[in-house]
Amino acid sequence: MADLAIALDLPNAARALGVVDAVGPEATWYKLGPVLFVAEGPTLVRELVERGKRVFLDLKWHDIPNTVAGAVAAAGALGVTLATVHLSGGARMLAAAAGARRDGLRLVGVGVLTSLGAAEYADIVGRPVEDLAREQCRLVERGMAAGLDGFVTAAAEAPALRRVAGPDALLVVPGIRRADDAAADHNRIATPAMAIRAGADLLVVGRPVTEASDAREAVRAIREEMAR
Ligand code: C5P
Repeated sequence: MADLAIALDLPNAARALGVVDAVGPEATWYKLGPVLFVAEGPTLVRELVERGKRVFLDLKWHDIPNTVAGAVAAAGALGVTLATVHLSGGARMLAAAAGARRDGLRLVGVGVLTSLGAAEYADIVGRPVEDLAREQCRLVERGMAAGLDGFVTAAAEAPALRRVAGPDALLVVPGIRRADDAAADHNRIATPAMAIRAGADLLVVGRPVTEASDAREAVRAIREEMAR
């Protein structure tokens, strides 16, 4: 059954743990990105793991194979449950990352960043690109060949990715907003029900929970919409 990860895009551990305390048993998964991880590091990861939480470490690794494999192994030893790598790191980097998984750590790939438009992406790869969704599927094929566990995708592209990645792949979907939430800085958003229908396995929600006056109630409302 699909689950929900709360993105802790907050500046320090005190604020992050305040959200975790407020949400209580309503959520198990928490996503840590580079801002909070650089500020608070493994101590916060250990604290969350000790509280029985699952940590999704979203550092989107992209480096030489040996370095990424080392980061994956270190994350596994720390008790991280899910981490991200860039699919554009190349087949050897992805295989090294997949080969370094230990202790229940799963790895999902990030393809074309949603902040990129077709023209900017074409400039990076040095050839004309008209269809970013097709690029995303092409990169996902590389990730599957390397043995990754799943992919990060917008809800709109999840059905196409599922066809490429197969039924066992873990599809992680950010950009989730309830019908009456503000879209903030997302170009494309989906409601919890839309994401579930698109085949999401793990929904990622940040500010609608971390900025809510009642974080637990916000999670409860999202779960309710997931079940619709
Ligand atoms: O606050 P909000 O719900 O917009 O947070 C979404 C989270 O998902 C952020 O941590 C953001 O970095 C992440 N994200 C992502 N890939 C995207 C869009 C958002 O990893 N394409």
